[in-house]
Amino acid sequence: MSETARGSEKITDDTTAHWKRLDVRHHLNPQMNYHQLKEVEGGSRIITDASGVWLTDSEGEKILDGMAGLWAVNIGYGRDDFARVAAEQMNRLAYYNSFFKTTTPPTVELAAKLAEIAPGDCNRVFFGSSGSESNDTFVRMARFYWSIQGQKKRVNFITREMAYHGSTQTGASLGGLGILHEHFGLPLPNFHHVMPPYGFNFKRAGESDEEFGLRAARAVEEKILELGSDTVAAFLGEPVIGAGGVLIPPDNYWPEVQRICREYGILFGADEVITGFGRLGRWFGCQRWGLEPDMITMAKGISSGYLPLSGLMVSDKVARVMIDSGEDFYHGYTYSGHPVACAVGLANVEAMAREKVIETFDRDIAPYFRERLIGEFADHPLVGEVRVIGGLSAVEMVADKATGKRFEKTGSVGTLCRDHCMRLGVISRGIRDAMILCPPLVISRDEVDEMVRRLRLAVDLTAKEVL
Ligand SMILES: Cc1ncc(COP(=O)(O)O)c(C=O)c1O
Repeated sequence: MSETARGSEKITDDTTAHWKRLDVRHHLNPQMNYHQLKEVEGGSRIITDASGVWLTDSEGEKILDGMAGLWAVNIGYGRDDFARVAAEQMNRLAYYNSFFKTTTPPTVELAAKLAEIAPGDCNRVFFGSSGSESNDTFVRMARFYWSIQGQKKRVNFITREMAYHGSTQTGASLGGLGILHEHFGLPLPNFHHVMPPYGFNFKRAGESDEEFGLRAARAVEEKILELGSDTVAAFLGEPVIGAGGVLIPPDNYWPEVQRICREYGILFGADEVITGFGRLGRWFGCQRWGLEPDMITMAKGISSGYLPLSGLMVSDKVARVMIDSGEDFYHGYTYSGHPVACAVGLANVEAMAREKVIETFDRDIAPYFRERLIGEFADHPLVGEVRVIGGLSAVEMVADKATGKRFEKTGSVGTLCRDHCMRLGVISRGIRDAMILCPPLVISRDEVDEMVRRLRLAVDLTAKEVL
């Protein structure tokens, strides 16, 4: 019987089996085919510990976390300084709300810090606990913004196919993934999706990146015109579509989309839930293209996943209309501005700045990460395209490298390769048939080598089975 130590507690095979049984009998995991709950044997892997970029499971296996949890743990695992901050705040004031003209010190300290680092004049934040919540807040605040100005016809939202904006009914409606719509009566009315800037899928023969970037941006304009520009409340987009497969736009796409939103007077929103807090080598992904959104949603990296926390930041233009209107904004969550979450969020943002996490990653690691991935996979017979930007990458596997032909059953090869990765001790998520990496930003060059080596082995094993 194997034994691993977890703090002072010993974990045996029996404890692992016990947890797996509890998981199968009593726990409904997110985004899962519940048919799998018929078997304890194949039950969930139990993660018990983590440090830096490494996870440990209940059987003592070390796993390199190439996904930063769920695109979240930007600063890496195991910060005991954050644990101390949380404990101190809990002892002093574990909870109070921000309704009815009250708030707490960590809430306003973090709000001010965010105003310092956000692009443009996004100076105010409405807190939540998850990306989905803050995207709901985005929709409600954008509707409110127009309604209080008497523009009650502005009810439509434009987003992109393949985008992911969360799992609530509104988040999933904003998102453009059919699998989140089927069975749920979605999207709700007034949510419209246009072509994403996914060149590998949508580029025409002979079309340059620039031409494609403009065509993809024009899809936003065409939708505005189709709906009537005076009926559109806002556009929302992830600077790089993440959970839809790491879709990196051509450089001219975003400036053109922003220009179009300004021209037609609709709110321009950025969903920075994945791309915020250093993922693209800047505090916010939109800063890579010099964008100044009217509204920005954020979560995950805001606290590096240490506690649930999210926010919607708004520009002075949006804030001014709400302040001057004198209308009540009937919206808010019990945990909006939670003091412990905000204290840890603040500790995270301050540590990132003090330790120069983003600059170091951008200068020393990001170029190496890119070089290693392209070096290893560009010529691989199973790989159609390698996409890398900052700390996000996708290795897109195809049935025919020459033509880019896809596999018959989308996602089956991605799942196979993901399972190989798991066995080889690296976490890489399969999205359709693309293998995704999004490691903690504190990863070292040696760890990048190890991560890429393990992914290469997994892709080789997959190729043997499917080519
Ligand atoms: C871009 C984006 N927006 C929103 C969300 C939803 O965040 P949450 O799962 O915290 O609700 C996600 C989650 O992955 C995301 O990637």
